[in-house]
Amino acid sequence: MSEAEFTPSKLGTKAHWDAVYRRELRTFQDYGDEGEIWFGEGSMTRMIRWLHARKVPLGASVLDIGTGNGMLLVELAKLGYKSLTGIDYCTDAIELARSICEKEGVSQGVHLQVTDFLDTFYTSEQFDVCLDKGTFDAVSLDPSRAAEKRKQYVQSLCQVLKPHGLFMITSCNWTREELLEQFEDEFEITDELPTPSISYGGQAGHSVTALVFRKRTGS
Ligand SMILES: C[S@@+](CC[C@H](N)C(=O)[O-])C[C@H]1O[C@@H](n2cnc3c(N)ncnc32)[C@H](O)[C@@H]1O
Repeated sequence: MSEAEFTPSKLGTKAHWDAVYRRELRTFQDYGDEGEIWFGEGSMTRMIRWLHARKVPLGASVLDIGTGNGMLLVELAKLGYKSLTGIDYCTDAIELARSICEKEGVSQGVHLQVTDFLDTFYTSEQFDVCLDKGTFDAVSLDPSRAAEKRKQYVQSLCQVLKPHGLFMITSCNWTREELLEQFEDEFEITDELPTPSISYGGQAGHSVTALVFRKRTGS
């Protein structure tokens, strides 16, 4: 397991996300504003383009872990993906995602569920693809038991992903090496998506890391 730890933050608490999505749901109801796309539209587009370019079949079952407003699933549904599931532990996030799916006319192909990925999520089917944009980051900032929760995340992921299934993660907290350290026992890296680089104090780096893993046999 990684030695890296982050300063605990309210971003790692359910209370924070409840407040965020209570506000975003109200804004959507009042003004029709769909709310924030985490790490910007480019991050979402990169993940979608990769799935499309690698010819991941439209019938593949896809799970978006911590779906928030569900915009990633909306865009996948518009591309023709038919078996889409989004989970989030915030009731208002799922209500917002549901409302946006209805507005965009894609409700049919998107299954949404309020559940805690680390605790209460039960599924009788395993998924071909799991997506995460910012959720492992949130888990990593938990003020209590962050290291234990990260381990639980990897276990839950192993349970819900089919053998050889794909896991695509976009993170702003972890570098490629740090993500590898945490996932490589059960997953092998298959790709790194190009992300915009930033330069600070003469050092070049990336504001986000986007990796694709494949579940190892027997994990
Ligand atoms: C940074 S936001 C990203 C939301 C969305 N993936 C996006 O890209 O817009 C993190 C999301 O993870 C959800 N989340 C955090 N921990 C979770 C858990 N244990 N189970 C389910 N959802 C969780 C939060 O409610 C929030 O919607």
